[in-house]
Amino acid sequence: MATRRITIAIDGHSSAGKSTMAKALAKELNYVYIDTGAMYRAATLYAIKERLILNSQVDMESIGENLDRMFLSFKFNPATERPDMHLDGVNVEKEIRTLEVAKNVSFIAKIPEVRKKLVALQKRMAEGSGVVMDGRDIGTVVLPDAELKFFMTADPEVRAWRRLKEIKDKERDTTFDEVLENVLHRDKLDSERAVAPLKQAHDAVIIDNSNLSMEEQFEFMLKIALKRMEI
Ligand code: DC
Repeated sequence: MATRRITIAIDGHSSAGKSTMAKALAKELNYVYIDTGAMYRAATLYAIKERLILNSQVDMESIGENLDRMFLSFKFNPATERPDMHLDGVNVEKEIRTLEVAKNVSFIAKIPEVRKKLVALQKRMAEGSGVVMDGRDIGTVVLPDAELKFFMTADPEVRAWRRLKEIKDKERDTTFDEVLENVLHRDKLDSERAVAPLKQAHDAVIIDNSNLSMEEQFEFMLKIALKRMEI
């Protein structure tokens, strides 16, 4: 059976397992993985470092001109076999996963100038096929013509437990309630923002993985991808 390389867009709620599945699919298919959430997180880290966010207030006057000086790139990490996020040439893969960045990222992600810059970069990165890209607006805004779109979700409590496990080693004081509150808050901000809100593309395959194991999800998604790749 002849196959073609396709573009796969994965959207969904925060901590719904998008990046785990996107990475696994990219590895299995030998595709490039692009984590657009990492790009919004890196832009947030940039704003924090440049003191453009103070007490959750973004300095809207300065953010536009400062964005021109922000340089985002991915570099393949042979140890993890995935691309690491770099900000101005420095690996920030760890720094962008802190609760401080998570708490502020929605403020940055709703700024039209930020989205314009990152969406243009994402479209360029996805040129050619053989790409798995995950985020919130990939199937609707960044890659509306993607051959395959998934929309992933899970119950908020399930997602909060997953997120807590991820950050527990680094931030021992973080509680489940704090994480759940952050998950619910981010869902609300992502879905209700005026610019590129999180919504299901009409042609997306919906996956609620509250009660699915990683293996079950992966097998299901891979099967659909392989089918779409058939010529
Ligand atoms: O997937 P994540 O949790 O790493 O994403 C971080 C934040 O970035 C999240 O609050 C939503 C935002 N985001 C976005 O607005 N658009 C995207 N394409 C990806 C992420």
